[in-house]
Amino acid sequence: MHARTLKTAANERVHYVVCSSEDPLANDLPNVVANLSGSPKKISSAYVYDKTGTALFEQQCGTPEYYLRRVETELLRLHAGHIFRLCGPVPIIELGAGTAEKTRILLTEYGRRGLSCDYFPIDVDVETLAELAQSLVLAFPLLSVHCVGTTYEAGLRALPAGSGARMFLFLGSSIGNMEWPQVYRFLSQLSCYGARGDYLLLGADLDKDPAVIDRAYNDSAGYGPRSTLNVLDHLNRRYGGNFQMSNFRYRSKYDSQSKRNEVRIESLLSQSVTLAAAGFTVSLEASELIDAEVMLKFDPDELGGALNQAGFLLLRRWIDPVFKYALFLMQHQ
Ligand SMILES: C[S@@+](CC[C@H](N)C(=O)[O-])C[C@H]1O[C@@H](n2cnc3c(N)ncnc32)[C@H](O)[C@@H]1O
Repeated sequence: MHARTLKTAANERVHYVVCSSEDPLANDLPNVVANLSGSPKKISSAYVYDKTGTALFEQQCGTPEYYLRRVETELLRLHAGHIFRLCGPVPIIELGAGTAEKTRILLTEYGRRGLSCDYFPIDVDVETLAELAQSLVLAFPLLSVHCVGTTYEAGLRALPAGSGARMFLFLGSSIGNMEWPQVYRFLSQLSCYGARGDYLLLGADLDKDPAVIDRAYNDSAGYGPRSTLNVLDHLNRRYGGNFQMSNFRYRSKYDSQSKRNEVRIESLLSQSVTLAAAGFTVSLEASELIDAEVMLKFDPDELGGALNQAGFLLLRRWIDPVFKYALFLMQHQ
């Protein structure tokens, strides 16, 4: 078949559940202002992931220090066949799909058995999502991609009612980007939108030697720091801001006591920054820290307990013994 015909046929397998032109952060400016007016000041991690932020995150994932991507990929490679045999050829709904590099390992299980699959990636980064859909339908001839370009919660609400079990995928330890109360709320929402028999495959980073975690978030190539500092650029572009990147520094530190890695942006001098779209000016002291991201590192039993409490029963748990990263396969009761 001609390459163009192939591409057209592939395009017919890309659908938009939530239209890609809808901007998930369209009404978020009041939250930005409220967060920058609080104490401590805060910028939501939702601003990390625009196209530039996702590209930088992908580069960070390829660094020797960032074990999370490597180890989760290996766990999936080792166990994808087993996961497929346990769950069968169910539709896949992925929360925070990003570039879905690891999801391809699961999709290959469908492909090699000649089975079709409906895949629903949910992600706020709508540009990356559209590119992902194109690249997946070209790589997997029996795959249909239903793009859900919005937040987890709105995405779950927008999903068409399913008949039969589905698999929710939540990889990359994205669950660690929430505070504990949010983790409980999120799992209970997922449980409400899910149905009895649905599966949940969850990847979560575990508590470990702080030096290993500190290295992962302070990679020597500087991709992690640049991906976080990109939020300032993102705010500048969206809201007519005048953050000067060189006036800020990235800070990341793991606290074993609370099992939290805190990522903050430090103001290097006393300065004022304006977001023209809001007519809002924020004053920052020298050395003042802005909260940017949190990465919880889990105790596997504690996280398992939270999953149980939300109505998910453990089917299998795989833990990398060296880097201490876990994959949980759960089923909705
Ligand atoms: C840490 S990356 C993980 C990407 C991929 N799942 C992986 O394992 O490498 C988080 C992804 O979730 C998306 N994301 C973050 N917060 C979100 C939210 N509230 N709703 C939907 N997507 C979100 C980001 O755009 C990004 O693609």
